[in-house]
Amino acid sequence: MPILGLNLNPEFISVCNNATWAIGEIAMQMEMQPYVGVVLPNLVEIINRPNTPKTLLENTAITIGRLGYACPQEVAPQLQQFIRPWCTSLRNIRDNEEKDSAFRGICVMIGVNPAGVVQDFIFFCDAVASWVNPKDDPRDMFYKVQRCSRTWAWLGGMDK
Ligand SMILES: *[C@@H]1O[C@H](CO)[C@@H](O)[C@H](O)[C@H]1NC(C)=O
Repeated sequence: MPILGLNLNPEFISVCNNATWAIGEIAMQMEMQPYVGVVLPNLVEIINRPNTPKTLLENTAITIGRLGYACPQEVAPQLQQFIRPWCTSLRNIRDNEEKDSAFRGICVMIGVNPAGVVQDFIFFCDAVASWVNPKDDPRDMFYKVQRCSRTWAWLGGMDK
């Protein structure tokens, strides 16, 4: 995992893409808690970089989502650092297993750290709206998020 972390260098797009993807796949199989610190800062930097190629952006967003699903306590505190580019890079990809796993992760992270999404909530709504045919499980989560957002609006939180 530390070696994969070192390969998260966007100067080398193909290597970076592959390392990013491998981390996301491994995150669904293995205990990742000890490694969040060696991979997350690079992933966050890549997703925020101007001119990151579209495919790398999408892969990075999916991997951050999977990492967050595996380790919400470790990743959710960083939500505000990546939620906006996360939403804009995933809103245009078609529905598939990868997108599904990424959205599950983001929903779990929002549950842990709702304050992290407040400022960019409109971007999150836009990304959710791009979801054509969510599976049952994430749909449940979207309903919760929707209810939560209505409460928020009612509280005047959306105006801030
Ligand atoms: C990245 O993975 C693809 C697909 O497995 C492979 O064809 C390509 O050679 C890999 N790139 C590098 C730089 O290893």
